[in-house]
Amino acid sequence: MTADETIKELQQDPRLVEIYQEAQQALDEAKDLKALQDVQVAFLGRKGKVSVLLQGIKDLPQEERKLRGRLGNLLKGHIESAIEAKSKRIEDRELERTLRQERTDITLPGRFIRFGSQHLISRVIEDIEDVFIGMGYRVVEGPEVELDYYNFEALNTPDWHPSKSLSDTFYINVPGEDYDDVLLRTHTSPVQIRVMENTPPPLYVIAPGKAFRHDVPDATHTPMFYQVEGLAVDDNLTLGDLKGTLEYFARSIFGSDRDVRFRPHFFPFTEPSAEVDVSCHMCKGKGCRVCKGTGWLEILGSGMVDPNVFEYVGYDAEKVSGFAFGMGVERIAMLKYGIPDIRFFFDNDLRLLKQF
Ligand code: PHE
Repeated sequence: MTADETIKELQQDPRLVEIYQEAQQALDEAKDLKALQDVQVAFLGRKGKVSVLLQGIKDLPQEERKLRGRLGNLLKGHIESAIEAKSKRIEDRELERTLRQERTDITLPGRFIRFGSQHLISRVIEDIEDVFIGMGYRVVEGPEVELDYYNFEALNTPDWHPSKSLSDTFYINVPGEDYDDVLLRTHTSPVQIRVMENTPPPLYVIAPGKAFRHDVPDATHTPMFYQVEGLAVDDNLTLGDLKGTLEYFARSIFGSDRDVRFRPHFFPFTEPSAEVDVSCHMCKGKGCRVCKGTGWLEILGSGMVDPNVFEYVGYDAEKVSGFAFGMGVERIAMLKYGIPDIRFFFDNDLRLLKQF
């Protein structure tokens, strides 16, 4: 039924036309959902004008009730749908307004987001790991708080060895209790013992991690630093295998044109032992400030596993042989990236960190 038709019908009762017009006007004036709700209450609520009118019908004489009832409901239906239509219009308008307010201008240039990056030490550790994983090695870890047994004794290090002194090793002492066999590991070599205790040969592992020494910080020392330990045990490993492995490693990390040399050295847990140097990349071995004129840079300690060590872990030294090596990660990173001071790694200065 159109609005005109409705009015025509309602004209049979001038009172209804009046309410109709009042409602129409109130609706025209309602500007938001709250006002609209007031209109709803005023006309259709329990005490609203239309409701009161409909309630009065039951008191009318029988003959009138039918017509009045129909007209009353017509009016009610009309007001209901008018309110609904208006409420829809208001909602649409408000939605459109919020959409307009919250619109994103996709033509604006984006804001620059600075990405973090891996710490250089973590990256060098991963680079070292990758080289050995490529040769079939497995990555293992051990505890940073160690027992004297693993850090020294089973590594064939006698009690009188200077590295055991209080001025070199951090001991964990609990007052009133005798805990001086607990310490912060001074190297990653104790992981060798732990792995061999738990695994029968053959064995090819590397063990990256932190080591601690009672050093006063300077350009080449910090009391905490990183090492990567390596251990290979098999039927018939020789010094030649050790040399080939470390030569391959050094060239992978420092460049295929590097020379490698082995200098005799001493470690309690390897025999024979050697320190390994790579030719200086700055001067190509001619001698410069970086290599202090020698043409060589020391990168790690190594050697053939001492039979005494095999004895501690229950390996048969007659049947197996092996080699081990240990390198300082910061030292390798300093040499590879030309970083002059080890403390830079721990200062967390973004000017250094963000270069890598
Ligand atoms: N643990 C030795 C150090 O910290 C390095 C090393 C490891 C030497 C394994 C030989 C074999 O100096």
